[in-house]
Amino acid sequence: MIENSIAVGILGMGSCLPDKIVTNLDLEKIVDTSDEWIVDRTGIKARRIADEDTATSDIATKAAERALQDAGIPASEIDLIIVATATPDMMFPSTSCIIQNNIKAVNAAAFDLAAGCSGFVYGLVTGSQFIRSGLYKKVLVIGAETLSKILNWQDRNTCVLFGDGAGAAVLGQVPSGYGILGSHLGADGSGGNLLKLPAGGSREPASIASVTERKHFVHMEGNDVFKFAIKIMGEAALKALANAGLGPFDVDYLVPHQANIRIIQSAAKRLKIPLDKVMVNVDKYGNTSAASIPIALEEAVDQGIINTGDTVVLVGFGAGLTWAACVIKWYKGEKPIG
Ligand code: ACO
Repeated sequence: MIENSIAVGILGMGSCLPDKIVTNLDLEKIVDTSDEWIVDRTGIKARRIADEDTATSDIATKAAERALQDAGIPASEIDLIIVATATPDMMFPSTSCIIQNNIKAVNAAAFDLAAGCSGFVYGLVTGSQFIRSGLYKKVLVIGAETLSKILNWQDRNTCVLFGDGAGAAVLGQVPSGYGILGSHLGADGSGGNLLKLPAGGSREPASIASVTERKHFVHMEGNDVFKFAIKIMGEAALKALANAGLGPFDVDYLVPHQANIRIIQSAAKRLKIPLDKVMVNVDKYGNTSAASIPIALEEAVDQGIINTGDTVVLVGFGAGLTWAACVIKWYKGEKPIG
């Protein structure tokens, strides 16, 4: 349990989704699939896809600006920017540095964080430590992806699952008893081959062969990832709750990573949390990887589903393999403190 230290919570949130909607019927025209199969196996009906000229930093910048506005603080007050992404604009510079320049967060340090779909929660937990230690006061955490750019649009096993989007949160001090109450982060690198982008790094630099063999696209053993997700989502949430000195019955609202409705339902069942207390928007946006949890969380807050005093659990899993969960006692004050 986190005790005797500065309480850290989310002061403001923002998101950005590309305008273009691609439905399952659209996908039926490019791969051998059907709306019925996709809805039945995943719960996904549509996803947003960025246009040719839009990179991850573009949608992340908009999400960041909206989060700053929601928090009511200028970019110059941000001390650190953490960007969780598997689809950076380029290998370097980091996407966080590009965003730092875009929003003119001239006093902020910046780094990217690679933890697949768990990245946003990894970022929240990491960012909160800088505030808790007293080093920084305000940290901007962003989960942003343009996965459409690294999908093999000839592979029905993967291209139907993902979408593009960005979500951002400003972290800062909240009154004692609120904010992040507990967390749990984990990894199992032995499962790294289950979900990867094989080429383009130092192991296999880009070559004519790597492009011909489509190694710059997502490769996934979907069924193995599914089994892992079913097991880990409930476990991770329970560990974060235990870390906060709480149990599943204390949870007012669950915001899980939006990968597949069957994975979400299984996590809720394991935690004995009724589905009306679980955020679901995978039907509209597909799996937006590191962006899925902040987009879903912002939507729940915007709809008035999550309010000050609610105990909220965020939980995700992703490439690595990784998993991450955190428990937040929600606080939305008129003015940030500290
Ligand atoms: N349309 C029609 N048929 C399809 C499609 C499709 N889009 N995709 C696969 N199939 C077929 C397969 O070829 C297979 O056919 P076969 O039996 O003739 O070989 C059949 O459907 C069943 O395939 P399974 O893999 O057994 O189906 P499953 O029920 O496991 O569902 C799915 C597949 C949806 C991919 C599921 O395994 C899943 O959601 N896995 C988790 C994926 C995930 O969440 N990844 C993201 C991780 S997070 C991150 O970091 C990005």
